[in-house]
Amino acid sequence: MRAKSQAQPNIALVKYWGKRDAVRNLPAVGSLSITLDALYTRMEVEVGPAPGQDCLRVNGEPNTAMLPRVSRCLDSLAGAGRPAASITSESNFPIAAGLASSASAFAALVVAADAAFGGSRPTLELARLAGRASGSAARSLYGGFVELANGRDDIELERLAGPDDWPLTVVVAVTASGPKPIGSGEAMTASARTSPFYPSWVERQDQDLELARSAVVSRDFEKLAAVAESSCLKMHSVMWTTRPPIVYWNAATLSCMEAVRSLQRDGHPVFFTIDAGPQVKAVCLPESATLVARTLEAVPGVESVLTTGLGEGARVLERR
Ligand code: DP6
Repeated sequence: MRAKSQAQPNIALVKYWGKRDAVRNLPAVGSLSITLDALYTRMEVEVGPAPGQDCLRVNGEPNTAMLPRVSRCLDSLAGAGRPAASITSESNFPIAAGLASSASAFAALVVAADAAFGGSRPTLELARLAGRASGSAARSLYGGFVELANGRDDIELERLAGPDDWPLTVVVAVTASGPKPIGSGEAMTASARTSPFYPSWVERQDQDLELARSAVVSRDFEKLAAVAESSCLKMHSVMWTTRPPIVYWNAATLSCMEAVRSLQRDGHPVFFTIDAGPQVKAVCLPESATLVARTLEAVPGVESVLTTGLGEGARVLERR
């Protein structure tokens, strides 16, 4: 059987950083994100007749680096004695550069694989399987504004609002498109071990989640902006105080933040957030999107700018 899916990356406004269970990849903190629209990963999974070696192609090239993680994800879904699968992944944006490509990839993978292996699992179950492969991927199973909460035994997910309920625009300023120096999984494990800020990061997370949730429910842009920038800067403070330090920013990252600050001073509804990479995501109301994109395009060191609205969760495109 063969199935094809699509998933879009999501951007956390209240960040996930740290694991409470590394084996099951359960996060130490809840998080809150928006699922994007224009950036996507399309994944095709074809199940062979017998057990054997899986094969993976990413953007037209064979990929052995990601294959073990992908195979483990398929084992968790279809059992270790499953038939081998051939997986083809295509993304329309730079991968492994802090643009949440693993989120869209693993969300797309579980959806396509479930269909290709003949299953029809509920979304929450697929989100939990995606989350085991990559914590942030669980959120891309849902569209719009998504909260991931830490339940007693596993993660819980809730769509707080749909993409059209509060249609924000995200302008991504790409400041470097190469792979990042250290993967987020390894980096957050180092932070938990060595950053003196890590315990208070975990302890305060519920306050940020509460603020962000109420900002989404009441569509309060300023409130969301304040908590999102604070969560982003706290996460990067934890990274910076890790030993050895983890610094994902470059000079253009800081210049983009300054450009967003100056738009804010002029009264424009926009805020920034940054993940495990040097790209800056500026979240704004749609009427300011053109100005925000033009402003970020003009920042020295910005290679390109992508503009996107909010989109739906991962879904099957076709099955045969
Ligand atoms: C900075 O989901 O990539 O983007 O669970 O180890 O795969 P693993 O980590 P990952 O971490 C994402 C971290 C972040 C913040 C976020 O998306 O919440």
